[in-house]
Amino acid sequence: MTALPTVELTVYPYECDGFGHLNHASALALFERARWESLARGPGMDLFHRAGVAPVVRKATVDYRAAAFPGDALRVETVITHRGTTSWTARQSAQRARDGVVIAEAEIVFVCVDRAGRPAPLPEEVARVLGPRSTAAHEAQRIGVAGAELAVEVRGEGAPVLFAHGFPFDRTVWRHQVAALSRWKRIAPDLRGAGESTAPADGYSIARYADDLVAVLDALGVRRAVVCGLSMGGYIVFELLRRHSERVRAVVLCGTRPQPDSEAARRARDELAALALERGSAAVGERLLPQLLASATAAEQPEVVQQYRDMAQRMSGPGMAGALRAMRDRPDSTPLLSQIRVPTLVIVGSEDQVSPPEVAEAMAGAIPGARLAVIPAAGHLAPLEQPLATSCALADFLDALS
Ligand code: MLT
Repeated sequence: MTALPTVELTVYPYECDGFGHLNHASALALFERARWESLARGPGMDLFHRAGVAPVVRKATVDYRAAAFPGDALRVETVITHRGTTSWTARQSAQRARDGVVIAEAEIVFVCVDRAGRPAPLPEEVARVLGPRSTAAHEAQRIGVAGAELAVEVRGEGAPVLFAHGFPFDRTVWRHQVAALSRWKRIAPDLRGAGESTAPADGYSIARYADDLVAVLDALGVRRAVVCGLSMGGYIVFELLRRHSERVRAVVLCGTRPQPDSEAARRARDELAALALERGSAAVGERLLPQLLASATAAEQPEVVQQYRDMAQRMSGPGMAGALRAMRDRPDSTPLLSQIRVPTLVIVGSEDQVSPPEVAEAMAGAIPGARLAVIPAAGHLAPLEQPLATSCALADFLDALS
């Protein structure tokens, strides 16, 4: 829990009812004043404005405990009891300064919105003030699939959207989108060998990953989903379209490409797989890092670099080697493109070196009716580097589907 500075406020006559008590509406307003005042004493009242977002109240509960009168000084304490990616909860307590009697307590849930009123991930500066993200609230379910157990985050209600992560990442690469797209049922698994899923010693293939995702949908009773794949996740989406097209309502292909590996790329996969098994996943993570991010990301968003390192480190050696061999052996998906009959969105970071914008543009051009969204100032990790722009592109696409 993070505590904001305690502030003392005086009750004025105009805030009181006919009997001279602080009235209920004024008590709520007093809590609000206390919050702005604590920002003024800490990071500045314009904290949200500076970041181009605003805090809006989604839910408020107030317990009125005792009367307060004009001239009473109230000491208001504010603690952040939960911090998510787009929302947070503040608990406030107002005590009479002279005798410590609690006048009222409030619990208020806020959501961060952008200028269009859409939920937006907390900007880094705001997140720092509110404290570390609470993790317990969104624990993953464990779902058994053939030979492995997957950690799957399932949030919300509405039309299902299934997120497939890339390599060497895990489901948290989609954390901002999973938090922001609150009108859809978000399903984000860690693939076998990644994140909190188990890592069988072998048996990895793109087809295996695709079958695992279908097993996840089966376990959750989901017949069809919008499937959203980042890079290797995109290779898996192609496989889903080949093997299980009836389960796919629409597709989002992010930072991915249809072409198979060249001979040189296949050899490089084998070298990296050997490195993963000999020196561990962090060594592979460091080897890949230089090509993953946009030029400004490392300097301006060091937390994104850290998130990447954490994801790579969470992958097991066998999981990494398995994923590399699965990608090495993936089929050519170019012939599939003109056969795709579901709505498609292609997303690419303007500085993606792994699957560059021209590849994305050609791919979108080959898929009937596909839309293309280029995310400025993003490399291969657009969902983490530019979460707001990526979430907006996704939300616009999903809105158009319904
Ligand atoms: C990924 O992000 O999944 C990988 O970069 C894909 C690849 O190496 O082909």
